Amino acid sequence: MNFEGKVILVTGGSGLIGKAIISQLETLKATVINLDIVEHPFEKAVYIHCDITQPDSVLRALERVMRIYGSIDGLVNNAYPRTADWGVPFDQISHESWRKNIDIQLNSTFYITQQVLAYIVEQDKGGAVVNIASIYGVVGNDPSLYLGTEITTPAAYAAIKGGIINFTKYLAAAYGAKGIRINCVSPGGIWNNQDPQFVTNYENRVPLGRMGKPEDISPSVCFLLDDGARYITGQNLVVDGGWTII
Ligand SMILES: NC(=O)c1ccc[n+]([C@@H]2O[C@H](COP(=O)([O-])OP(=O)(O)OC[C@H]3O[C@@H](n4cnc5c(N)ncnc54)[C@H](O)[C@@H]3O)[C@@H](O)[C@H]2O)c1
Repeated sequence: MNFEGKVILVTGGSGLIGKAIISQLETLKATVINLDIVEHPFEKAVYIHCDITQPDSVLRALERVMRIYGSIDGLVNNAYPRTADWGVPFDQISHESWRKNIDIQLNSTFYITQQVLAYIVEQDKGGAVVNIASIYGVVGNDPSLYLGTEITTPAAYAAIKGGIINFTKYLAAAYGAKGIRINCVSPGGIWNNQDPQFVTNYENRVPLGRMGKPEDISPSVCFLLDDGARYITGQNLVVDGGWTII
């Protein structure tokens, strides 16, 4: 893989998975732009403040990218905005909170993708989008995992990530003729110092016997952005140590 001369935008690049994606893209010589609300120092990647939930902020950030770099070759939708009450039990989720999370996660992904695709279409040289979904956009959650822990999985996550996976297929069909590929990567659970009981429960269930690491996810993202994936579009690459096969 080689991204020399390619401009790749990564939303939420300062987070757990985003950092690994940006670091690998840097190694592969991409010009990487981190679109986040929080800055993180990278070797070469440039930070541009972008709140994906605010259309004005998205437009300003993309205009800035175009002014400085003149083109966009790829977008990774990885940002993970969520409300403060994210994860409360299902019977306690307020209607307002549900709507807000759908808005800041799903609707925001729609808007930035629509705006980036408009630039890519105008350039007329193709491009690629990778949406980060989740195993919980593919299968239901396993309640036994959370026994004895405070951890919950938010119901809206299933709706949002399932939506992102099918939104990806819609876009892939709509933009294929323009040489633009749109795919998904669906990570399984990533180790992040969770409750040891949860980690044990998880490891006992997953065929490869451990939780994921951010560096397990980034190679698939890079592959789907790269020209090696030139005949792959509308797919959901599940990177989960085999979680979803059983
Ligand atoms: N961590 C996991 O176990 C896991 C598993 C499956 C899927 N995912 C998905 O991977 C993606 C990244 O997750 P993560 O675990 O790295 O999350 P994270 O919370 O570590 O990072 C998310 C990043 O998004 C940024 N962000 C939040 N609100 C934003 C906004 N309004 N505009 C721009 N940026 C914003 C944050 O500042 C942060 O840098 C998410 O889409 C998540 O659903 C994560």
